[in-house]
Amino acid sequence: MANSSQSKLINLFDYETAAREKLDAMVDVYLASGAADETTLRRNRECFDRILLKPRVLTDVSCIDTRVDLFGQTLDHPILLAPCAYHKVFHPEGEIATAQGAAQSGAILVASTFSTVSLEEMAKCGARLWFQLYVNPDRSFTRELIARAEEAGYQALCLTVDTPTLGSRDRERRSGFALPEGMERANLKQLGTRATRAQHHKEGGAYNILDPSLTWDAIEEMRAWTKLPIVLKGILSPEDGRLAVEQGASGIIVSNHGGRNLDTAPATIEALPIVAEAVGGRIPVLMDGGIRRGTDIVKAIALGANAVMIGRPYMWGLALEGADGVARVVQILRRELEIAMQLLGSASLQLITREVLWKASNRT
Ligand SMILES: Cc1cc2nc3c(=O)[nH]c(=O)nc-3n(C[C@H](O)[C@H](O)[C@H](O)COP(=O)(O)O)c2cc1C
Repeated sequence: MANSSQSKLINLFDYETAAREKLDAMVDVYLASGAADETTLRRNRECFDRILLKPRVLTDVSCIDTRVDLFGQTLDHPILLAPCAYHKVFHPEGEIATAQGAAQSGAILVASTFSTVSLEEMAKCGARLWFQLYVNPDRSFTRELIARAEEAGYQALCLTVDTPTLGSRDRERRSGFALPEGMERANLKQLGTRATRAQHHKEGGAYNILDPSLTWDAIEEMRAWTKLPIVLKGILSPEDGRLAVEQGASGIIVSNHGGRNLDTAPATIEALPIVAEAVGGRIPVLMDGGIRRGTDIVKAIALGANAVMIGRPYMWGLALEGADGVARVVQILRRELEIAMQLLGSASLQLITREVLWKASNRT
């Protein structure tokens, strides 16, 4: 299966087309849609396409180094798998297949609080894992969840801070998306069925298990609970970038939740340089939203990112080919990154600076 389909699936857009043909309409809408008029969702892609690159020649690109250091570890490449909920609706093995694919491709998987496999089960697959945390109004439960993740070997805590409530996901609402019978938010079992059943837009849905009263004090609170690095996901403003550093965050992720929360927020590649400047290199800055090409990764790094995350693309891989599909998506992107680096004349990620961006004023 993998070989015959792989020959046709050359890039991530091929995976998108093939997955969308295969997926049930409601599941496809759940994955593809954004908030409200989907202005931000579209913009995440459009803005990447508007940025042009400036190749340099004759620089010895015989050896390409995509390694990056993050929180004391060296990663082979800067591509992480962003937290996405409910993998079992895409593939019967759910997050187990995703974690196996992550292990195969050397990508860190940021496991969602809303996974359909428990965090402990995922930890058995040999992948490097971070745990994405939605803070629950029940703080003792949240504390326990963090302890479970640390105990299971997760290497960082990714605290999603852009979701005091879900965005106005009109398309998803119209589709009536809910977790099918037999699937549940496996990490939340202790909280009972109102928490484990995902009916986003009905009573008992996500609204009851996200805490909109969260403030910056949460970082200090969690620092007392865990030794893991705390990475804030969902920063878009320079003010919050600065505050994240001051309040002791270990890193941030510039993200608009894949266009699923506040519509008409900027594309992440627009916000990235402004936020990165405010952070000033004091902590690592990651970004996600619309990464589909190796050249997108180059642009993100040039504008201040240390690494990037992909969301929907690996879910297309998962839906089509399980673990192998997840791995293939990462491998394609990594290969495209290497090609882009060679053609740009940048042999390592450290050499990718704003100099690789084409500006109309580039005349010297
Ligand atoms: C189906 C789906 C589920 C998601 N679930 C979560 C989640 O549980 N926690 C979270 O922090 N972000 C979640 N996100 C946002 C992603 O982590 C990420 O920010 C976004 O998908 C990146 O954009 P991209 O899909 O264009 O790559 C989800 C995104 C999608 C598409």
